[in-house]
Amino acid sequence: MELNEIVEPLLVWYDAHARILPWRSVPTPYRVWVSEIMLQQTRVEAVKPFFRRFLEELPTITALAEAAEDQILKLWEGLGYYNRVRNMQKAARLIAAEYGGEMPGDFEKIRGLPGIGSYTAGAIASIAFGICKPAVDGNVLRVLSRLMASQEDILKQSVKRRMEEQVEGIIPETRPGDFNQSLIELGALVCVPKGPPKCGECPLKHLCKARQQGIQETLPRKTPPKKRRKEARTVLVLVSDNKAVLRKRPEKGLLAGLYELPNLEGTLSREQVLDNVQAWQLSPIRIRPLPEAKHIFSHIEWHMLGYLVQIEEPEMNPGKEPEEGFLFVEKEDMDRKYSIPSAFGAYVKYLREIL
Ligand code: ADE
Ligand code: SF4
Repeated sequence: MELNEIVEPLLVWYDAHARILPWRSVPTPYRVWVSEIMLQQTRVEAVKPFFRRFLEELPTITALAEAAEDQILKLWEGLGYYNRVRNMQKAARLIAAEYGGEMPGDFEKIRGLPGIGSYTAGAIASIAFGICKPAVDGNVLRVLSRLMASQEDILKQSVKRRMEEQVEGIIPETRPGDFNQSLIELGALVCVPKGPPKCGECPLKHLCKARQQGIQETLPRKTPPKKRRKEARTVLVLVSDNKAVLRKRPEKGLLAGLYELPNLEGTLSREQVLDNVQAWQLSPIRIRPLPEAKHIFSHIEWHMLGYLVQIEEPEMNPGKEPEEGFLFVEKEDMDRKYSIPSAFGAYVKYLREIL
């Protein structure tokens, strides 16, 4: 199958099956914009009353630009993700200031507005202005990956960009908006996200590679987020008079080159900690446990236990040189010179209280 073979049957199907929707019947740039933002997290049926009310109260971009924040938030109440409407107002003000209150008929300018990504910009450009730009959202990615039997992870930006390019290559100049919406509509009505796709009713069933291979229900592929490795660590707040002990981390790997509170693998007992501290040629005076803390990195979770350990000043310890990499640091220098990652934040807090 060449991808351009889908255009004709898809448009024929769209003409016969497209739902009649308020933003489709009168596709002005403002109406398309409002509808696409509302539809980002909400189903078509649920959007309809919100769309009607929004357009009644704020019928133009200029009206949106001038509306009180309370009013736009109220109009959005029930849709959630309020930043979407705040960004819309920012964009409306920008359109009022820069473009005389009219949405510019230029893809790049639309794409440059707050809250408008490549999908929304493509939808507005194609549906309201007839510009040949793709509008590829998660639903369209699902349809395309099934049509092409693509095993690639549709959550990857690179995959999305490639699909956008492929669609851009086949958009019919006569009906770019209808073509984009036909892909959206197919994803909503036939090549559905939940449950098996309704291939029997699909206008592309004779072309679809996933169906030919019988793998339509296994696509699209979305790589599950990696499980984080859990690591237990014991973090030491080592203080000596008015100084804290820091250690420089290795130049490679996690938190490379930053400064840390000395810490040990595993969840250690008081005795084990004292043994380690002595092995570092430091002389502990007092030790007390500190509460547990957790820090989440992208691939690792640290489950930490802490100890506050008072140690003798190294000068008073003739013959004992502390291990390489340890620094005795005064509070001012700790704040000014040494970057301690927030993973240690729960314990750095104690240092600040003590020093
Ligand atoms: N979902 C996102 N955009 C849509 C549109 N233009 N029509 C119907 N459903 C949609
Ligand atoms: Fe989706 Fe089935 Fe149509 Fe393929 S044939 S595009 S899997 S509905």
